[in-house]
Amino acid sequence: MRSSFLFASDRRTGIAGERKPAIDCYVDCVQSPAEVYEDFLVRWQFRPWTAVLLAEAGIQPGERVLDLATGTGIVAREAAPFVGVRGRIVALDINPAMLAVGESLPQPAGASIEWIEGDAAALPLPDAAFDAVLCQQGLQYFADRPAAAAEVRRVLASGRRALLVVWQPLINNPVQEALNAAGRCRVGVAPLATAFGLGDAAELGKLFESAGFADVTVTGRELVVVFPSRAEFARRMVESVAHVVPELAGLDSSQRAELARAIDEDTWRILQSHAWGGGLACPMAVHLIQAGAG
Ligand SMILES: C[S@@+](CC[C@H](N)C(=O)[O-])C[C@H]1O[C@@H](n2cnc3c(N)ncnc32)[C@H](O)[C@@H]1O
Repeated sequence: MRSSFLFASDRRTGIAGERKPAIDCYVDCVQSPAEVYEDFLVRWQFRPWTAVLLAEAGIQPGERVLDLATGTGIVAREAAPFVGVRGRIVALDINPAMLAVGESLPQPAGASIEWIEGDAAALPLPDAAFDAVLCQQGLQYFADRPAAAAEVRRVLASGRRALLVVWQPLINNPVQEALNAAGRCRVGVAPLATAFGLGDAAELGKLFESAGFADVTVTGRELVVVFPSRAEFARRMVESVAHVVPELAGLDSSQRAELARAIDEDTWRILQSHAWGGGLACPMAVHLIQAGAG
């Protein structure tokens, strides 16, 4: 990995090698990657999107719901009150550290969440066990997507539905596009390439049609996601992403701070254009895949 960001030239002043003052109040990160994910990305970015997903899913009392690639469980937690105590919520993820953080959080009202470690491509679950499979921003990370789509079909009861969301391409997510470009420029890897790399609607539709779903639609949804602190945005993003991008995972806290400072400088103009009070209002766009098990 290149470390040119440490003394990269300041794009706004053009003064090569001169350091900007540290971002105010930088503190070392003592949280685990899964805690960082829950504390920042889930709280500010994924939770608002979960409301969009659940509004589309129309979950009913008594239904059995699988939250596939649950992470720290935001979709499972938000769905539990809708299915109620007569329903069932299974939260499945391949990463036990994410599940452990989810399990440590307060249990919501409604169904008690069952936390299961497993791979989307070989679900440790019986056939026809669910009325709905929900998956928020997991599909792009699956190593074997056709197998995962077939597994989603297998565990759904006849006539039931799957709803999955993945980000549209970076061009439709301009703040993340700027962060990604700055990351690539500073360290030579595009940190958001995987997260935003499955944005072809036709490809998504084919994936689920090939898995035997009867009725597949892929439609766009947009949301302005509000982050509370413009000043802390780049630092919190770098903290959240650095742990999960292999090329950045080895950065120590001071290197992450330097990278965050550099990215903050590089993205200054676009972040200013999305300022919202002291925070940031980011327009974001996803593809919503709705697939009916005939
Ligand atoms: C961006 S997170 C999304 C988590 C959660 N759905 C949310 O909305 O916060 C992607 C998740 O996919 C999980 N994942 C990746 N590959 C997986 C697989 N093959 N099977 C199950 N989960 C997987 C990761 O462990 C991670 O928790």
